[in-house]
Amino acid sequence: MPDSAQLVIVANRLPVDRVDLPDGTRGWRRSPGGLVTALDPVMRANDGVWIGWPGGTESDLEPFEDDGLSLVPVSLTEDEIEEFYEGMSNATLWPIYHDVVAKPEFHREWWDSYVTVNRRFAEKAVEVAEEGATVWVHDYQLQLVPQMLRDLRPDLRIGFYLHIPFPPAELFAQLPWRRQILEGLLGADLVGFQMSGGAQNFVRLVRQRVGHKTHRDLVYLPDGRTIRAAAFPISIDAEGFEELARSEGVTKRAAEIREALGEERRVFLGIDRLDYTKGIVARLRAFAELVEEGKLDVDDAVFVQVATPSRERVEQYRILRDEIDRFVGRVNGDLGRIGTPAISYLHSSYPREEMAALYRAADIMVVTPYRDGMNLVAKEYVACRYDDAGALVLSEFAGAADELRQAWQVNPYDINGMKSALLEAFHAPEKDTTRRMRAMRRTVLRKDVAAWARSFLEGLSEIRPEHGKTVRPPRT
Ligand code: F6P
Repeated sequence: MPDSAQLVIVANRLPVDRVDLPDGTRGWRRSPGGLVTALDPVMRANDGVWIGWPGGTESDLEPFEDDGLSLVPVSLTEDEIEEFYEGMSNATLWPIYHDVVAKPEFHREWWDSYVTVNRRFAEKAVEVAEEGATVWVHDYQLQLVPQMLRDLRPDLRIGFYLHIPFPPAELFAQLPWRRQILEGLLGADLVGFQMSGGAQNFVRLVRQRVGHKTHRDLVYLPDGRTIRAAAFPISIDAEGFEELARSEGVTKRAAEIREALGEERRVFLGIDRLDYTKGIVARLRAFAELVEEGKLDVDDAVFVQVATPSRERVEQYRILRDEIDRFVGRVNGDLGRIGTPAISYLHSSYPREEMAALYRAADIMVVTPYRDGMNLVAKEYVACRYDDAGALVLSEFAGAADELRQAWQVNPYDINGMKSALLEAFHAPEKDTTRRMRAMRRTVLRKDVAAWARSFLEGLSEIRPEHGKTVRPPRT
């Protein structure tokens, strides 16, 4: 474990999960996220350190190494989990940043907790960052950290990346703490967004609400500092997914899944975190109506929906779970036959291997969020279809729609439109699906998550160092 680091990643979660080991002790297992895959090589090249919450309330955890990565845990108390994580992050900011798909709640004590926890993350980063280091802060849970870092350590080069959408000014303006959040982000040298629309929303808000001069993607602060706000669309470890999809184990498992579902049935697939932004019920409704109207038959088609449990103590997530349970029960009760349900619903999380097998087994992948920063499931599906087969039905409100132009794009609020797209994708001739998939694969394989990390860090290293101090750019 290095005493100090040239590159510090600050994210709400550590890239490892707590696990119980066979010998009865507790250990760590690398979480499957793409972020750690992307940052692993840059972390190694720069003696990087990753600061994050390990989940749970353990409070006495020391910094540790996991498979060569240096990790620094930040503890949260039970109250902070409720107020900072479940409350301010996931019941206030999350819905506001996703088009107010659910009603946001505003509580002053949640905000106080958000400030306290952001300060804890900033102080940890300051402890481990060496003179002139680069600190890269991630996501909506930690928007105050950039300015806190700058106040404590003006020598640092600070980047911030938002993984979720940044809302239009009209929605952001609802936040009682809108100015503090903008000022928090302005502590960074480079603020990265998924889409250029998010960057533009941010710059406009800074001009309107904080009163700073702006020009295109630049913000000029009165102290002479310039901040850039730009889009860096995130991606996945595309080669890694393709390799996994080609492996013997996944090939075998995909065949088993097909057999279990009925070889002659075509498979629609949805894989999402169980979240109200994902449009799960609307897409199932579109499918169920097609069956009801006789346009699809359960002997020919099945919808497999995987919903990964998430934020289960937040009320809106509990309500959604019940709604899906009821809906699936009703559809299967009304439309299923013995041994052939219309919807095969799995409320569970699966390892990457099982996901890759599901992607390979699916004929039509259905990704229909009401709003999504990017949606990596859509890209994973494409990466796994090395056979150039399979169709993708994709919401135009997912960031991925910008790049995956050859998908059947839909408006998830328009159930009839979704029904038409599902049917078109179902009946599409192979020549058409192959042409579309080939084009999407070229995009996904060309711009992977390593390229994303490189371009952000290079963008950050181009920013002029403050007050003529020597700031070493990270090695990419
Ligand atoms: O998409 C935003 C995000 O915070 C991801 O970074 C994360 O993988 C996912 O949502 C799940 O969030 P949580 O940490 O709340 O389980």
